[in-house]
This record gives sequence, structure tokens and C-alpha cells, in this order.
Amino acid sequence: MTHVWAKFGKGTEENTRGLKTSLISSNAYGIVLDLGAGYGNTAHYLDRTDVTKYVALEPNLNMHAEIRANANQAGFTEEDGTLLIIAYGAEEPNLINSALGGAHAVDTLVSILTLCGVPEPQEVMRGLVGEVLKPGGQVLFYEHVLSRRADVAWWQRFWTPIWRCAFDGCCLDRPTDIWLEELDVWESRDVWSKEDEPEEHLWWHRGGKLVKRS
Ligand SMILES: C[S@@+](CC[C@H](N)C(=O)[O-])C[C@H]1O[C@@H](n2cnc3c(N)ncnc32)[C@H](O)[C@@H]1O
Repeated sequence: MTHVWAKFGKGTEENTRGLKTSLISSNAYGIVLDLGAGYGNTAHYLDRTDVTKYVALEPNLNMHAEIRANANQAGFTEEDGTLLIIAYGAEEPNLINSALGGAHAVDTLVSILTLCGVPEPQEVMRGLVGEVLKPGGQVLFYEHVLSRRADVAWWQRFWTPIWRCAFDGCCLDRPTDIWLEELDVWESRDVWSKEDEPEEHLWWHRGGKLVKRS
């Protein structure tokens, strides 16, 4: 993934800058946990006056130096306690909680193009939202998901076994938006499709803000 994301990450970043500004910059506050932080690009969307700590969850150690560089540029440092880089997977909520000093510590959980590749995503989301996110906290997500169109979904299922081998486990056929919305914990839900994205797109995106009941 280090090499794949070095190649594709920059283009994706450019295409999603506006969208991430309105999703992340306008909403993120408190302790922010960035699921599958990649190179730590999310740090640049965080407002230092609203965000007290940037926690980058990234199991790939090869990405940590760049996460640190990006976070430092955005004003988050390990020295002053505003940056924490964790090498666990998203499927380890108990370890994440110990690194954070206790359960329900996170105000904002960010997932950008990550749930497509984690193992057991429904279990992962239940664990993180149930055990790691504070009551009243929020999930901000932007993911490519299973299409609602049967013909597109067929092709997504067809290509997934090949695509996931080439792209570090990334699956085209996960309805992660629906799985997230289905968790019975939300006080409010605002979920949308990407403006101007054709429905035929194999990488069809959904994003949104889900606020957990207090
Ligand atoms: C497609 S990249 C997206 C990176 C970043 N969120 C962004 O938008 O730039 C997916 C990231 O998820 C990480 N990842 C893979 N398996 C993971 C897991 N089990 N838990 C958390 N992150 C994981 C990968 O190492 C990679 O950095």
C-alpha cells in the first residue's frame, strides 16, 4: 500500500480537496481518530482551534514518517501531546482504547477510503463506534461503496477478487455506507453521494456525517 498510495494518493487528494474541506474542516473537533491515516493528509483539514489532538491509526509503519511530517506541518506534534500515531489495525478497539487512555475518548472518527480494505468491516465499525467513540461524538466518512444499480454491482463483484489482490485488500463490493447507517446508535445522519459522479462508476462514493446519541 505504501507504493500504491504513493502513486494514487496524490490524484485522489486533488479530486477530493473541496469535498474534504466541507466534510472534515467544517465538522471535526476535539480528539480526532483518523482510521487508516495513510500519509496523514487529513491533518491538513483539521482546524487547530477546534481539534485538540490528531490520532493517526495506521498499521503500515512505512507511512509513519510522512504522517508525522504532515501532522507537524498542520501544527500537531508528539512533543506537545497533540499528535499520536498508532500502529494498530481498526479491528483492535481494545488496543486503541489503551493507547488513548480509556474507552469513549474520541470525539470525531474519520474514515476516508479505508473501510473498503479492513477485515470484518461490520464488526470493526460496531467496535469503534460502540467502544471508542464518545456518546455525542461523530463519524465523518467518505468511502467507495457497493452500487445500488444491479448491473454496476455485478461488475463490482466480478472485479473485486482481482482488484483486492492488486490493491492491498481493497474491495469494490462493500455497502459500508449502509452498514454504518444501520448501526442503531445515531442521533442524526446526513449521508450523500458525490456531486456529479455518474451512477455507472465502479468506484461509486458515499460520504456523510453520523452523530452518535448522547
Ligand atoms: C486507500 S488508503 C487511504 C489513506 C487515507 N485515509 C487517505 O485518504 O489518504 C487505506 C489505508 O488504510 C490502511 N489500512 C489497511 N488495513 C487497515 C486496518 N486493518 N486498519 C486500519 N487501517 C488499515 C492502509 O495501510 C492505508 O493507509
